[in-house]
Amino acid sequence: MFAREHDEVVALAVTTILDDALGLCRARIRTHGVTLELAITTAAQVRGRSIELSQVVVNLLNNAFDAAHTSAEKWIRLSTRDLPDRVQIFVEDSGPGIPAERHDDVFRSFFTTKAAGAGTGLGLSISRRIVDAHGGSLTIDPHAPNTRFVIELPT
Ligand SMILES: Nc1ncnc2c1ncn2[C@@H]1O[C@H](COP(=O)(O)OP(=O)(O)O)[C@@H](O)[C@H]1O
Ligand SMILES: [Mg+2]
Repeated sequence: MFAREHDEVVALAVTTILDDALGLCRARIRTHGVTLELAITTAAQVRGRSIELSQVVVNLLNNAFDAAHTSAEKWIRLSTRDLPDRVQIFVEDSGPGIPAERHDDVFRSFFTTKAAGAGTGLGLSISRRIVDAHGGSLTIDPHAPNTRFVIELPT
């Protein structure tokens, strides 16, 4: 890991952010029998801090893994969509889902449903702070049939 002061704001291809995150997560996902579906179609660039933005995707992939790997159906889907002036990154999983009344709670610092030692409850609150600092948003798609986190960033 580089020191934080080297994580400068630069022009970044979204594919680079996702490749960096996948490099850290892919092996663990696949060796545990979870199917990783990729539909990364964007050529968009964002301005931002590479390590921070990859860390957000890592946090979402790790949560998706925790949710999917204990389910009967085991998959994670990472996909993108281009919008005018913005790009969306979706992390979706086959896990048990998050009840609608918990959609706000999960972004609070120290909110966790994981065993002591397994989760700090900081991943989503830190991730939201990072995405907000990049002028974007981190939300849960309330209409998706599965758990679906949405990172939206200005391009
Ligand atoms: N993909 C997901 N499926 C189901 N629940 C999730 C998912 N992602 C996050 N959560 C819920 O949100 C909580 C907070 O997530 P997070 O901030 O990453 O902390 P941690 O993973 O350390 O518990 C988790 O403990 C879990 O209850
Ligand atoms: Mg987490």
